[in-house]
Amino acid sequence: MPADSGGMGAEPPTLTPFRPRLALAWRPGVEIVRCAPAAIIGHRIAVLEANGAEAETAFIEDADPESIHLSASIAGVGVVGCASYLPSWWERRPAWRLRGMAVATPHRGLGIGSGLLGAMERELQAGDSSRPLAWCTARLAAVGFYERMGWRAASTIFDAGWAGPSIVMTTPCARPLGTPFAA
Ligand SMILES: CC(C)(COP(=O)(O)OP(=O)(O)OC[C@H]1O[C@@H](n2cnc3c(N)ncnc32)[C@H](O)[C@@H]1OP(=O)(O)O)[C@@H](O)C(=O)NCCC(=O)NCCS
Repeated sequence: MPADSGGMGAEPPTLTPFRPRLALAWRPGVEIVRCAPAAIIGHRIAVLEANGAEAETAFIEDADPESIHLSASIAGVGVVGCASYLPSWWERRPAWRLRGMAVATPHRGLGIGSGLLGAMERELQAGDSSRPLAWCTARLAAVGFYERMGWRAASTIFDAGWAGPSIVMTTPCARPLGTPFAA
């Protein structure tokens, strides 16, 4: 998907500040906020290309006003992580698709990825979403992260092109606030 699919600069109606989940409490200075896609696409492309992506790091749904884009930033550094929930379908029902989950290499293992998914849950629960489930295509190297976050495998391993061997994973979107990620 070309990066110039239009409307990238469209600002969502609100910019919602998030309190990072506990995992970030010992990592002061990381701010996770809802943002316009234009604020994160450069970071997303840089991280995912470094991980082997050749294309498809900007998505047509990026510009959909229903899409939810989150950035994690550090003052003086800039964007260090991002994630996007895009409107999608699962078994003929409306769902979210998580795409563009990307934390910069020097900042991994510090709770930023989990902070982004936690903030996404807060955003969904604060809104009026009729999408009860989220899914993603997880490369094998990232499956452990999603499992730790409470996501579960929903397919066998398949070849996902540049991402290599991958599986589809899902998670319910209606988890009560405060419930641990991992079951
Ligand atoms: C996968 C990714 C998003 C994880 O982000 P992160 O900020 O490093 O993750 P966190 O620090 O929040 O980790 C949360 C937990 O998951 C675990 N975890 C993180 N990455 C993991 C991995 N690849 N495999 C297994 N466990 C992992 C952490 O140890 C931590 O566990 P803990 O709560 O017991 O301490 C990040 O490594 C990344 O951007 N990778 C490159 C791009 C990519 O693969 N994106 C996913 C595409 S499918």
